[in-house]
Amino acid sequence: MLQDKRILLILTGGIAAYKGLDLIRRLRERGAAVTPVLTRAAEQFVTPLSVSALAGEKVYRDLFDLTDEAEMGHIQLSRSADLILVAPATADIMAKMAQGRADDLASTLLLATDTPVMVAPAMNVRMWDHPATQRNLAQIVADGVSIVGPNKGDMACGEYGPGRMSEPLEIIAAVEAHFGPRPLSGKRVLVTSGPTHEPIDPVRYIANRSSGAQGAALGRALLDLGAEVIFVTGPADVAPPVGAQVVAVETAQGMKEAVSAALPVDAAVFAAAVADWRVEGASDKKLKKVAGNMPALQFAENPDILAEVAQMGTGRPGLVVGFAAETNDVVDNATAKRARKGCDWIVANDVSPETGIMGGSENAVILISDAGAETWPRMSKQDVATKLAQRIADALA
Ligand code: C5P
Repeated sequence: MLQDKRILLILTGGIAAYKGLDLIRRLRERGAAVTPVLTRAAEQFVTPLSVSALAGEKVYRDLFDLTDEAEMGHIQLSRSADLILVAPATADIMAKMAQGRADDLASTLLLATDTPVMVAPAMNVRMWDHPATQRNLAQIVADGVSIVGPNKGDMACGEYGPGRMSEPLEIIAAVEAHFGPRPLSGKRVLVTSGPTHEPIDPVRYIANRSSGAQGAALGRALLDLGAEVIFVTGPADVAPPVGAQVVAVETAQGMKEAVSAALPVDAAVFAAAVADWRVEGASDKKLKKVAGNMPALQFAENPDILAEVAQMGTGRPGLVVGFAAETNDVVDNATAKRARKGCDWIVANDVSPETGIMGGSENAVILISDAGAETWPRMSKQDVATKLAQRIADALA
């Protein structure tokens, strides 16, 4: 898959650099040639010897390592690759990229290059969330850099949140997608994702356990195939895919408005777990605890966003895909749901607690369409996303 591709892999200083070693091995397994570059800080985490042994090539560490500086070796090095991959990428290298600084070999190569650049950030959650890093991220994305991850999870520093470098196989998938065909280029695809929060009062709400993982993976996979992605998300655990146009909403009503504003689109995928009901007449003041006096909540039905879009006349997306989270009679319920909603496909899954699917990293889905029910083997949510995005591309071709 990566045969004849040359990757200039820049490792910067972070604990995730150890995953960089595995990344080198896996890139080479797939036929890529890897030219490694280490920053000074990266050398604190992995040794030049192990990196060069795995890459099977000399490691570049210093601007003045380049024997042929008279022939502008750094320019040559920065342009001889098919892709420059920065993994792990620290907050520092992202700041340098955003500013166009060139004070070591890695940053100089990144400034001198006309080769596509992909970055896999890895840093402490506070550093990732810091407005300066988010500003730098937005700048490098605007400059055309593609971003993989970061993932949310436990961090080496003991904290939890977004900032973990993507796993080597996720980075490989992004690299392969970069070199692969982009059948969705020029297509506009809407994805809804995550739960909705329905307020009871200004501090309390009703929600569900959706993490937004499947929707985020799908957004990423659609971007990888070249789509313009409008990602309407409720308050999810998983970060939205970088590169999508993200519209953050809170309630089902807010999601409906964001979806209407995003139309027209070529395809719409409704992966959000939208609350079916909202609290009618939610209080605008915090409800007070009064001993022995329980508030009685009244519910009102939320708009069915999927059904409304699937059943709209003019302006209906060419392909409308719904999800069905079921706990029993999955195929029957999902088939009935497809007919009731009027969508083209339903991606059905069994979210009984024992499946570990809701909030987990894997999914086992059944695709219901005109052609009947097609059972996919249990696979990662990322793989479900890749397969579904490919199907969407085939359908829109
Ligand atoms: O009716 P149910 O919630 O089981 O249907 C699930 C599908 O419908 C999902 O695709 C979900 O995103 C969508 N949906 C919606 N608006 C709602 C409820 C569900 O778009 N109010």
